[in-house]
Amino acid sequence: MFIVICSFGANAQNVVKQLAPTPPMGWMTWNYYGENICEQNIKDIADAMVNTGMAKAGYQYIMIDDGWQGGRDNRNMIIPDAKKFPSGIKALVDYVHSRGIKLGIYSDAAPLTCAGYTASLGFEEQDAKTFAGWGIDYLKYDYCNAPEDSTTAKERYAKMAGALRKSGRDITFSVCEWGDRQPWHWAAKADGQLWRTTADIRNKWKNASQQNSVGIMDVYDINVELYPYAVVGHWNDPDMLIVGLYKHGGPAAWSGGNGCTDMEYQSQMSLWSMMASPLITTCDLTQMNEATKRILLNPDVIAIDQDALGKQAIRKINEPIWNVLVKPLANGDYAIAILNRGDNAGTYKLDFEKVGLNGNYVITDVWSHKSSGKRNNWKGLVQSHETKLFRLHVQNN
Ligand code: GLA
Repeated sequence: MFIVICSFGANAQNVVKQLAPTPPMGWMTWNYYGENICEQNIKDIADAMVNTGMAKAGYQYIMIDDGWQGGRDNRNMIIPDAKKFPSGIKALVDYVHSRGIKLGIYSDAAPLTCAGYTASLGFEEQDAKTFAGWGIDYLKYDYCNAPEDSTTAKERYAKMAGALRKSGRDITFSVCEWGDRQPWHWAAKADGQLWRTTADIRNKWKNASQQNSVGIMDVYDINVELYPYAVVGHWNDPDMLIVGLYKHGGPAAWSGGNGCTDMEYQSQMSLWSMMASPLITTCDLTQMNEATKRILLNPDVIAIDQDALGKQAIRKINEPIWNVLVKPLANGDYAIAILNRGDNAGTYKLDFEKVGLNGNYVITDVWSHKSSGKRNNWKGLVQSHETKLFRLHVQNN
């Protein structure tokens, strides 16, 4: 009798655990708190994540961004700032895990991070082991203070990825070099589950003259073109959701980030979901108003983002005012987004065959939750900066 113990070779890839089968969802400290973080803030966010239903809706990570570090101890172990994290990171991880949420942390592929804190260059294995020992589930790895060339970037990211894999813990790896070295060509190979595609998003609809920074439209225009590179397990990351930040003064307010309307925030949620983007929120989850909850917690919108097929939408119509995106979904449905970039409301008619869809469909507006009978087109009013978002279900008879 033969017993097959293991079968490697052709199926070896199947053995590797998928760390981000769908785009990661969570909350990150940076845009709200900047460097001014502390363990109590993070515990409060963990509680709010559970109490508001965010955790149940799929937001499963809390990420501590830059500013947590307190240098290295006499054995060169990276340590947290004792004033901000008096109980240490391990105790915080235990608390967050006890609420059913995962915890992420931040470092940089250089001696110092973007905000000037201790980073991991030369200490990759040691830091990866430390993070694993604390029970960390996700690492955002930044690229400030590092050489500009791609070869070095690839080496440094691969080095930290290798260290994480050796650490004995499943740690999702987020590559953050802002798209400067086209990480969509190499970050998946370097074992990154996601890679930032743009500069830091600011809290505004779009860049204005005299402002050299990106808003929702600028980030979208870059990221939407990168659809071929998003596949199950590996995602383009167009940076955090600014939904619900309003006039808050954190880093997203820098360089003219004076806030958006709820309509614009809703558009960000629609477009990010169409682009199979990580949904990383940043507003104060303990104080969300009804509009913010409605935007962040809509299960039908989240389902489009998290769809198991893992396809990023293709922009089928790209006109100065009107954009139409199409995203195929796992059950044979399609998601369609119609964006009005203009400054005025307008009526739009879309014949579905114009974007390659030749059937008749039951159309559900996933924001208003209204469905129509069988149709091969949609016509209606779209407000300025609104993104209509529909799910189309094929009707065979
Ligand atoms: C860079 C990153 C941001 C944030 C800051 C922290 O700018 O792109 O997302 O992590 O660093 O300093």
